[in-house]
Amino acid sequence: MKKPNNHLLVIFGASGDLTYRKLIPSVFDLYTQNLLPDHFGILGLGRTKISDADFRAKMSEGIDRFASTKAKDKAHRDKFLNCLYYYAFNTKEESEYKGLKDKITDLNSALKTENNYTFYLATPPSMYPIIPQYIAKQGLNDERDGFKRLIVEKPFGYDLESAHQLNKDLQKVFNEEQIYRIDHYLGKETVQNLLVTRFSNGIFEPLWNRNYIHHVEITSAEEIGVGSRGGYYEGSGALRDMVQNHLLLLASLVAMEPPTLISADSIRDEIVKVLQSLRPIPEDKVEEFVLRGQYTASEIKGKTMKAYREEEGVNPKSRTETFVAMKFFIDNWRWAGVPFYIRTGKSLPTRVTEIVIHFQSTPHHIFSDDKNIMRQQNQLVIRIQPDEGLLLKFGMKVPGAGFNVQDVNMDFHYSDLNDTYLPSAYERLLLDCMLGDATLYSRGDAVEAAWKFVTPILNAWKKRPCIKVHGYPAGTWGPDVSDQLIEGAQTWRYPCKNLTGDGEYCEL
Ligand code: BG6
Repeated sequence: MKKPNNHLLVIFGASGDLTYRKLIPSVFDLYTQNLLPDHFGILGLGRTKISDADFRAKMSEGIDRFASTKAKDKAHRDKFLNCLYYYAFNTKEESEYKGLKDKITDLNSALKTENNYTFYLATPPSMYPIIPQYIAKQGLNDERDGFKRLIVEKPFGYDLESAHQLNKDLQKVFNEEQIYRIDHYLGKETVQNLLVTRFSNGIFEPLWNRNYIHHVEITSAEEIGVGSRGGYYEGSGALRDMVQNHLLLLASLVAMEPPTLISADSIRDEIVKVLQSLRPIPEDKVEEFVLRGQYTASEIKGKTMKAYREEEGVNPKSRTETFVAMKFFIDNWRWAGVPFYIRTGKSLPTRVTEIVIHFQSTPHHIFSDDKNIMRQQNQLVIRIQPDEGLLLKFGMKVPGAGFNVQDVNMDFHYSDLNDTYLPSAYERLLLDCMLGDATLYSRGDAVEAAWKFVTPILNAWKKRPCIKVHGYPAGTWGPDVSDQLIEGAQTWRYPCKNLTGDGEYCEL
């Protein structure tokens, strides 16, 4: 595999959780697979004053806990740790950036990283517009002597206006080609497989439209509550935290037209077209299309589960949603009239993300027990996590007298592929950025289009507190009224950890 050019990765917010849990362990995984360039270094930046040795010791612990791979031996591992450096400074203080530039220049000479720098913003979002301006003033955005890339973590904006402003602020000092907006869902192997499933199989693509698809359902459920992230989550809620980015992205990949090429712009052009075709939900119709909920205290198998309002950092009268279910349409030729349903929540019975394509049923039902509408529809389940794989449900004759029909499963599990290493999302995305490939990063226009769609919903919730926040006991599948969102006699699929084990009681 091609190796990236020599470079220095500069992480703002290096004393935070993301660096410890995701970034350094992922770069370490690239190292153990020999995917890093020969001349490479990481400079961690933060306010906390610690030495290189302290930083290395802490990151070493993060590697032990979160990396997927292991070094060959101690010397191999130490070689990686020795390319980590730390520099303490105040990111809010413009005058301190001269010192940062000197530090970067020194390291660049010592490590021979050829003036190629990637800046990773893993700081609180309030710093996203500021840091790029200050590094640009030091000339660290200038690509004449080497590449300069900027990775921006989510959340990218708080609503349409702030996302638009952030795009403007970043684009003042970096070109769009230099900006890498992360949505870690695109880094997931199974999310990328969506494109392969659709566009490399002659059996699916002809059916992939309004003539053969009845509706599309996307679920992203989490078993855990907000835990220690209450402070952040209070100002966010599930719509901003999961729907605006990850779930609309999944819907776009399901709905997009085939790209002309597998290239950053061809794929991102198709994604943005879907987002721009989302039928707007007017503020006064929000209740009809969107449902919000919040988990309440409960007792499951003798274990007491906290209410959201009891979590640390959460207002005891909070109306922040921890669950969202919504229905929407994509107004284009392919999808006219096909409802898309998406749902996400915290403190649900299990952790699962999957997409279910419900095909139209046969036009005439000739078998005696073929009465059940769910049974009449073939379903293709694309499982993103866990038990990653594909499941096709179809009807088979029950052996014996008569023509009794039964649903059967045809399933493929990634785990059946022996010796196949599934890289983590951050590992894949970091490598892509190092290689200068932005295909799996979000483009500015797509982020804005997604915000444009969700902003009227946020406005309605803010302006009209009479819109209900439904309580649901922690550990259940959200408010029971969410089934009513789905038209006709259907309900959501209630999946289990195991891809094929639907409709059963979920193990908690
Ligand atoms: C993050 C959200 O973007 O995605 C979290 O901020 C959420 O609240 C997480 O838990 C889910 O990611 P994954 O990869 O575990 O599905």
